[in-house]
Amino acid sequence: MKTRAAVLRKSPVERPYANTRPLSIETVDLDPPGPDELLVRIGAAGLCHSDLSVINGDRPRPVPMALGHEAAGTVEAVGSGVRDIAPGDRVVMSFMPSCGHCLPCAEGRPALCIPGAEANGKGTLLSGERRLRCDAVPVHHHLGVSAFADYAVVSRHSAVRIEADLPMVEAALFGCAVLTGVGAVVNTCQVRPGQSVAVVGLGGVGLAAVLGAIAAGAERVVAVDLSDDKLKLALQLGATDAFLAGGPDVAERIREATRGGVDHALEAAGSAGPSSLPTGSRGAAV
Ligand SMILES: NC(=O)c1ccc[n+]([C@@H]2O[C@H](COP(=O)([O-])OP(=O)(O)OC[C@H]3O[C@@H](n4cnc5c(N)ncnc54)[C@H](O)[C@@H]3O)[C@@H](O)[C@H]2O)c1
Ligand SMILES: [Zn+2]
Ligand SMILES: [Zn+2]
Repeated sequence: MKTRAAVLRKSPVERPYANTRPLSIETVDLDPPGPDELLVRIGAAGLCHSDLSVINGDRPRPVPMALGHEAAGTVEAVGSGVRDIAPGDRVVMSFMPSCGHCLPCAEGRPALCIPGAEANGKGTLLSGERRLRCDAVPVHHHLGVSAFADYAVVSRHSAVRIEADLPMVEAALFGCAVLTGVGAVVNTCQVRPGQSVAVVGLGGVGLAAVLGAIAAGAERVVAVDLSDDKLKLALQLGATDAFLAGGPDVAERIREATRGGVDHALEAAGSAGPSSLPTGSRGAAV
């Protein structure tokens, strides 16, 4: 079948993107799903900083590649080996396929799946196949999803079935921002009730980390960003303190406000610029 997809044809691409137009909306061929794969009609997809990092070359990936990895949709067809998902089911796509058999998967750490990471690096689905083509030339998949498109073929192991009444826009966020931000709080930091957490960088991932910290029972949730608007948003969501990044004494002021420093500090800015992490804290970078 044919589908429209946003294809990156070279990387890195120079800014400003309004002039260089890194993505072209193309009509491409989409093969039917293999035995362990699904055809999904995309309902919503978000732009994650990691898409931008493929465009600017910070994350080198093979091109041409159809971008977009934070998405939700409706299953249209399933491969011959899929038994637990049916057409009509709603799914969220995960940017990290997990095979279920390798050592990290067997140890209960599917985010570190070895074949999943290999497939993502090569721009294939977990099966090693590419189901997208343009003029007979294979187009790579972004993180096994390639969701800036009308339709996508994904591995069964890249999809999680969700409730039928969860709106697509909110559901899509679970495909990356929520998975990453809340996962860092709950699994990596293992935040406990009463602890303090600082989140530096309040994009999709950082704001999800703020929400995750509140849900985990953190007593102080310190939000840090270069943008005043992001600080306001974090406070609306329930952060207890907000600091504008960039000043020389931000870390010191956070230490003062939190009686010597936070229990956990997360970096979700994706910037190599001046850091505001209060040193001495346990940290997690996403
Ligand atoms: N490892 C993973 O699983 C994973 C998943 C998703 C995203 N990421 C990475 O996480 C990072 C955040 O992703 P996002 O989509 O939320 O990004 P985003 O661009 O939406 O948000 C980044 C935020 O950081 C702020 N910021 C930039 N520089 C800063 C600085 N020096 N100090 C404080 N704040 C600063 C920006 O104002 C912005 O609000 C990116 O690097 C992305 O590639 C990793
Ligand atoms: Zn992402
Ligand atoms: Zn695995």
